[in-house]
Amino acid sequence: MSIKVAAIIGSNRKESYNRKLVEYMKKRYADKLVIELVSINEVEMFNADIENDPPQGAIEFKKNVRNADAVLFAVPEYNFSIPGALKNAIDWLSRSGNDLVGKPTFIIGSSMGVLGSVRAQMHLREILSNPNLQPQLLPGNEVYVGAIHTKLNEQNEVTDQATIDFLDKVVNNFIEFYNKVK
Ligand code: FNR
Repeated sequence: MSIKVAAIIGSNRKESYNRKLVEYMKKRYADKLVIELVSINEVEMFNADIENDPPQGAIEFKKNVRNADAVLFAVPEYNFSIPGALKNAIDWLSRSGNDLVGKPTFIIGSSMGVLGSVRAQMHLREILSNPNLQPQLLPGNEVYVGAIHTKLNEQNEVTDQATIDFLDKVVNNFIEFYNKVK
């Protein structure tokens, strides 16, 4: 049985490399995972005054995450951390329903620089350790795709064999982890 994965795209721009990377993974692993891209673009700004009566964008976003078997975060780096839009979306997940708690989850990320969003991913791991979020996070398997703009062709397929091999390994490790913890 395929695992339904809500892939939270941590960038809100149209030409996001992180989105392209997830679109590539969606095709490459279609026999193993049903990856559904979840946008953060319509998630309203979190405000504790309205958390018990959330607006439509937040409701949809939370539902998409809650209804999935697993979660994938695709993370860009903004100023050595995750983008504010992603943090805002995560804040919604931490309230009324704790949609992420216990959900098998893994993280990937890319940037045009060499470090592949490592600092953002370190912050994300710290954020997710809050008890109101606390997914079952795949240990290790840290995916830092640097110089992403040089690793995609015009069809947005990954052309770098080392990256493909590593993604294959991480996806297999995640499926093994999922079957163990679920
Ligand atoms: C960036 N970028 C960036 N890159 C990086 O390696 N470290 C950083 O601290 C930052 N900071 C940063 C701040 C802001 C406001 C922007 C707009 C960009 C570059 C960024 O990671 C790059 O544009 C990625 O391609 C963004 O991800 P998406 O949108 O392509 O998925």
